[in-house]
Amino acid sequence: MPFPQRRLRRLRRTPALRRLVAETRLTVDDLVAPLFVREGIDEPQPIVSLPGVVQHTRVSLVEEVLRLRGLGISGIILFGVPTKKDAVGSEAWNPDGVVQVALRDCRDAVGDEMVVMADLCVDEYTDHGHCGIVGADGDVDNDATLELYSHIALAQAEAGADVIAPSGMMDGQVAAIRAALDGGGHEHLPILAYSAKYASGLYGPFRDAVDVTIAGGGNRKGYQQDWHNAREALEEIRFDLAEGADMIMVKPAVTYLDVITAARAITDVPIAAYHVSGEYAMVKAAAANGWIDGEVVALEQLTAVKRAGADMILTYFAGEMAETLS
Ligand code: PBG
Repeated sequence: MPFPQRRLRRLRRTPALRRLVAETRLTVDDLVAPLFVREGIDEPQPIVSLPGVVQHTRVSLVEEVLRLRGLGISGIILFGVPTKKDAVGSEAWNPDGVVQVALRDCRDAVGDEMVVMADLCVDEYTDHGHCGIVGADGDVDNDATLELYSHIALAQAEAGADVIAPSGMMDGQVAAIRAALDGGGHEHLPILAYSAKYASGLYGPFRDAVDVTIAGGGNRKGYQQDWHNAREALEEIRFDLAEGADMIMVKPAVTYLDVITAARAITDVPIAAYHVSGEYAMVKAAAANGWIDGEVVALEQLTAVKRAGADMILTYFAGEMAETLS
């Protein structure tokens, strides 16, 4: 026999055939758009390392949310950039702080038609740029930080967030936030836990977006995960589920497809993956040089993330992809 009986190329012959046998489909329903809102600006500010993404004013944020709704996007996640930063990040739970007012604006604008998520962390709000309270030994104090997170969860819930998404990687953060939410009458609010969040080099453009510099040239390796480890991610996920996480996240996405697949095998709760700022920036930069077709690569990467086992993807490509996919 000169060739195998069943030739695999037969099912690749036409676009319609390929569509029919496609195992994975990326749809607009899978996408969540991360958005930045900055206090004290009159015009949206471009973010040089994230072409096409801006720091929004309260007004331009609502316009963008309505535009995304029009494109069929069902989720956004909000990050705030305050004018005032301090050692504990107190603007993060100020009811009149930038994220709280923006959450209310979005809630008023779209009602229940979109899922408005709130990233819960303090790094955008602390003057040292860490995700918690820095103790006398220079390390981030885990349990003292949990108290801050509890305040933030309540402030975000009261401002109308649909989903609380803690990203600080403190041990016990899901349990602390769940207790705070339940104690405040917010039993219905789900938690999307950034469970397997790695100390990645791919967050650089995000730190430009939120004006964060970690003091003393520091890093987050003391609380975010070491990228040498995959099994450890499953421990993080198991702990978060035991503490009450409703959904879990793997972050970044494309460098951690193995972790997404491993997570899929141990849990049936929805899995989110965050295609982070550096992943977006790399595609944009290479495309701007004419070295790759950015739209094709974005589609390929996001589809791969879904194929690996993610149910939803947080991505700066959300708006563009919604246009491509429609
Ligand atoms: C922390 C947080 C970060 C990102 C989301 N939440 C930055 C960090 O951990 O340093 C990064 C997202 C991205 O790079 O797109 N609040």
